[in-house]
Amino acid sequence: MRVVAVMNYKGGVGKTTITANLGAIAANLGLRVLLIDLDPQTNLTFSFFSIDEWHDRIKDKRTIKQWYDAEMPGRDISLSDLVLTPERVNDALETADGRLDLISSHLGLIDIDLELAARLGGTTTLDGSKRKFLDLHSCLRRGLEDSDFGQYDLALIDCAPNFGLVTKTAIVASQKILVPAKADYLSTLGLEYLVGNCDSLVRQFNEYVDHKGGVAGYRRIDPGMLGVVFTMVQIYSQQVTAAQHAYIEETNLNSRVPVLTSKIRNSPRHFGDAGESGVPAMLRATGRDEVVREFEQLVDEVLGALALSPGGDR
Ligand SMILES: Nc1ncnc2c1ncn2[C@@H]1O[C@H](COP(=O)(O)OP(=O)(O)O)[C@@H](O)[C@H]1O
Ligand SMILES: [Mg+2]
Repeated sequence: MRVVAVMNYKGGVGKTTITANLGAIAANLGLRVLLIDLDPQTNLTFSFFSIDEWHDRIKDKRTIKQWYDAEMPGRDISLSDLVLTPERVNDALETADGRLDLISSHLGLIDIDLELAARLGGTTTLDGSKRKFLDLHSCLRRGLEDSDFGQYDLALIDCAPNFGLVTKTAIVASQKILVPAKADYLSTLGLEYLVGNCDSLVRQFNEYVDHKGGVAGYRRIDPGMLGVVFTMVQIYSQQVTAAQHAYIEETNLNSRVPVLTSKIRNSPRHFGDAGESGVPAMLRATGRDEVVREFEQLVDEVLGALALSPGGDR
């Protein structure tokens, strides 16, 4: 299973929309996809489940909050017990091979995130604190190594717009990081900061793994930047507006994150509703309009970077 973290410090840049639609298209191509909602805003979860369904049968026992809320996440419940199969989107898939499952988030995850970070302290020896650091940061990675997840081709993690401990566990668990961004000044500035923080986390994690005397049982990590996908791009007369084109070029030239060829245009017509249908817009679209084509190109680019093809090895 390939694991991709979808992240950006900024909210409202299209992370959840990209995660939901990328996952749905990949499943529609015949892949087995697991979506993990790590944002306490729970928007990804509500793209697939109604609020009533969530309150009645998910909220109290089957969200990632219960999983992280343990002395060591994953000690009390197994991650695979949290996997849900949203009905409406799976009914909408055109292939019997594909599947879209989801692990739900919870508003209360925001408090757990702070408590978890506090647990990093409280150890007095250097070796003890390094071990705690590695244990906590690799909890999601360990959880996803469960053989139950071997059936999936791809996991997409929708991260919260912060660099808290929960987001860090997603980076440690991922092989690639996908960064949706808007083509504006603040967003392009934020990218360098994001890359810098990811690099520091990876460096520190690997330094602890390599630490003399060795902390047994941990492997180095190397989550690469899959790239920036520019979203909500303004297109007039088939062209990206001059101002946005300049920001995209600037990122192309000066950023350490590769810019993906695929871009997703601003389209309130497709993404204007609140997702109450339970089926992402790209599976509801009738005909292959330009936005569907842009998303299909993005899926091609992402699957290509992961060396994943429908019908290939799991
Ligand atoms: N390509 C797009 N065109 C128009 N609106 C979009 C597009 N992508 C996302 N949106 C809308 O923008 C808002 C923020 O998107 P969302 O995916 O929730 O961002 P994030 O997860 O980064 O906070 C949502 O209302 C969503 O429907
Ligand atoms: Mg979101």
